[in-house]
Amino acid sequence: MHNSERLVVITGGTKGIGKALVDRFASEGWPVATCSRNESDLDALRGEISEKHKTLIHTFKADLSKKEGVKDFVEFVQMIAKPVEILVNNTGVFNPGPVLEEADGALEQMIDTNLYSAYHLTRAIVPAMKQNKSGHIFNLCSVASLKAYPNGGSYSISKFALYGFSQAIREELKEFGVRVTSILAGAVRTPSWDGVDIPDERFMKPEDIAETIYTSYRLSERSVIEDVVLRPQLGDI
Ligand SMILES: NC(=O)c1ccc[n+]([C@@H]2O[C@H](COP(=O)([O-])OP(=O)(O)OC[C@H]3O[C@@H](n4cnc5c(N)ncnc54)[C@H](OP(=O)(O)O)[C@@H]3O)[C@@H](O)[C@H]2O)c1
Repeated sequence: MHNSERLVVITGGTKGIGKALVDRFASEGWPVATCSRNESDLDALRGEISEKHKTLIHTFKADLSKKEGVKDFVEFVQMIAKPVEILVNNTGVFNPGPVLEEADGALEQMIDTNLYSAYHLTRAIVPAMKQNKSGHIFNLCSVASLKAYPNGGSYSISKFALYGFSQAIREELKEFGVRVTSILAGAVRTPSWDGVDIPDERFMKPEDIAETIYTSYRLSERSVIEDVVLRPQLGDI
């Protein structure tokens, strides 16, 4: 099947890693469906990427931290009526702070956005992949999924949980021809770091994460890269 007949779903495609992913897949002729909470950012993304790569970018305003938002986005994706070949669970929020000092509700906010969004979306999208015996799921975990650090707080808790989810679904889907990859990244220069005064050289580029995901997808169906750990060349911040 030609790329243009299937769909890539990337959550949170308007900024940072998500935007680099939309650009990378669109550059190979893939139609992409994405969402975020900001309509004007989505309009700008669709204009920019579809003009640049002459491919279809489907955008939808949805808050994936809410189950209702996930449900609406799933209906939108189903209306596009193309089989989903790749699902990238990228949406995430990063509010660092120690467990004992972070704001009340920090855990709920980060679990809702970083874990439940991926859980509910995957449960809705993946049964069709399983039936078609084809597909690839990428989960944007973090080095904070592997090792806690003093200022990690609920972000780290949510990313440990997402990595647990990613490993569970990998085991479930092994025999159905659906691949699952956990991306465990250190610091990437994206808007989630805005306001932090650290030189650019200490960060990875979002395009490098997108390239890693694209390359992982390109392997034959006989192999899956289960975990990718990426760090800035100079190490963790
Ligand atoms: N940057 C890093 O250093 C780094 C390192 C390791 C892992 N990661 C992970 O990689 C992923 C992307 O990170 P990033 O730095 O590229 O983030 P980012 O620049 O903050 O972009 C996040 C994207 O997700 C969307 N989003 C956020 N909350 C949403 C919600 N509730 N519903 C729908 N869309 C939502 C944002 O749009 P709106 O805000 O307009 O909704 C935006 O498009 C995250 O899961 C993050 O934890 C990042």
